[in-house]
Amino acid sequence: MSTNDPPARRSSAWFAAEGRNGFIHRSWMRNQGFGPEVFDGRPVIGIGNSWSELTPCNAHLRDVAEAVKRGVWEAGGLPLEFPSMSLGEPLMRPTTMLYRNLMAMEVEETLRANPLDGVVLLSGCDKTTPAMLMGAASVDIPALMVTGGPMLNGKFRGRDIGSGTAVWKLSEEMRAGKLTEEDLREAEGCMSRSRGHCMTMGTASTMACMAEALGMQPSGGAAIPAVDARRYALAQASGRRAVQLVEEDLRPSRVLTREAFENAIRVNAALGGSTNAVVHLLALAGRVEVPLELAEFDRLTAEVPVLADMVPSGRFLMEDFYYAGGLPVVIRELGDLIHRGCVTVTGRTVGEETAGAECYDREVIRTVAEPFMPAGAGTAVLHGSLCPDGAVLKVSAADPRLLTHRGRALVFDTVEEYTAAADDPALPVDSSTVLVVRGAGPKGYPGFPEVGNVPVPKVLLEAGVEDLVRISDARMSGTGYGTCVLHVAPESAVGGPLALVRTGDTVELDVPGRRLDLCVDEAELASRADELARQTASGDGAGGGEGGAGRSARRGWAKLYTEHVMQADRGADLDFLTGGSGSGVPRHSH
Ligand code: FES
Ligand code: MG
Repeated sequence: MSTNDPPARRSSAWFAAEGRNGFIHRSWMRNQGFGPEVFDGRPVIGIGNSWSELTPCNAHLRDVAEAVKRGVWEAGGLPLEFPSMSLGEPLMRPTTMLYRNLMAMEVEETLRANPLDGVVLLSGCDKTTPAMLMGAASVDIPALMVTGGPMLNGKFRGRDIGSGTAVWKLSEEMRAGKLTEEDLREAEGCMSRSRGHCMTMGTASTMACMAEALGMQPSGGAAIPAVDARRYALAQASGRRAVQLVEEDLRPSRVLTREAFENAIRVNAALGGSTNAVVHLLALAGRVEVPLELAEFDRLTAEVPVLADMVPSGRFLMEDFYYAGGLPVVIRELGDLIHRGCVTVTGRTVGEETAGAECYDREVIRTVAEPFMPAGAGTAVLHGSLCPDGAVLKVSAADPRLLTHRGRALVFDTVEEYTAAADDPALPVDSSTVLVVRGAGPKGYPGFPEVGNVPVPKVLLEAGVEDLVRISDARMSGTGYGTCVLHVAPESAVGGPLALVRTGDTVELDVPGRRLDLCVDEAELASRADELARQTASGDGAGGGEGGAGRSARRGWAKLYTEHVMQADRGADLDFLTGGSGSGVPRHSH
């Protein structure tokens, strides 16, 4: 090997072993056509692949893996591709978020149990990126991520349409009678017209950018379209780089520092990125034991304007973002708001990687001096009597007129109950109504689904009202929009104040003051809490119904999940998964 004093390689515990164990470890590997020379002590690089035909956003990752392999061979490593669990937003029920922690566990245990010295993580669809980062962080072997890249811009009848966001917009237009079912069918093929993940600044693009901003994805990697040849060149270079990462022993714990998280949080604000990034960054920070509180997201972004004019907050899509210069431009524009000394997986610092970034389209990526939206327009963190442990609202996706609002609550215990009523012409709503949908938090659903942007009631849509204040303990798709207060903690299923709201109560939202309050006096709330406790004890309280935790949590993963999931303000990780178990070589198998 090239260095004088190479670090002890995990893989040598398998492949350099003598006698019976070495025979077992090498012999079966040779059935894949490897000669004895691959066991000469070269770095063994896993390629963790979340490829699946059930996750269309990741379906091309086997081709990306081939490019990574070329790079690993080229640099003198041994690439070994392995499948991970995959989480596809379009198909999985009840929600991929129920399985993020399971996938993270699966990645973690696969890495630790096998003779891997380093890993290249291939992800794409929303949860696959945080799940892989969380798993790798808890093992802490040298790791880098290559996301699969966004689809090309959707094109429908001469207009650009963005994944996810167009679904919400077009289906509302159909409910309002402006489009037919046939129009919608035509749009299906026009929106998703190439391989890749959602090309809006939804959760997948946001998390790809977070991986880059954290330093875990090579600079410039997030935005390259999935079908662009440069993604495959980047993948090959990443394979080469992974071998060097092992030689340098550059581990996630050196990249995922407190300062790296601060960078990512600020970059997310500058992108007008997904509210889901909050949950995933909190969970990832927990894995590397970086102290990070929900309230800090607000403080860290107080001076960060939105620079990217991207759907769902703005106009453009990821293809435009890439041609405009991509994430390195955003990072460079943020100047002193970024810790430029943070090391990235390339071995260079954030500052070194982005110093030469040039913007080719100022419509798409603006400057701090002339931003797309002023500071504070990203994700606001609220506190108050309705959300003692916090809630979030994406300011850039909300109607500015509703950001300071007092209205009467209309309450639904489950999202199904609301959906059944949403088109009812007699629904007692007006434009000042505060719609409360509960029972949709991590334990309550279970799995913390993306239902927080429930549709506007049909009677209001027909009257031309396109937004109203919606409050829930759910999440919202990163492609969603509306004045939606999300991630209310504690959630109703664990007895948070959200469980005590009744139809007709006054609720006060004050986004500039970062408050969300239930205007009901304490004595009344205490008596409601007593009543709720009695109902719960007798088995017919909130959370025990159709969408409640009691239904599917008798056994299996859902049981483990509901017993151990933490609230949104802790990233909804399982309580026993915080921290890591390291990369030590496990005991013999035979
Ligand atoms: Fe997979 Fe949007 S559905 S990235
Ligand atoms: Mg999504």
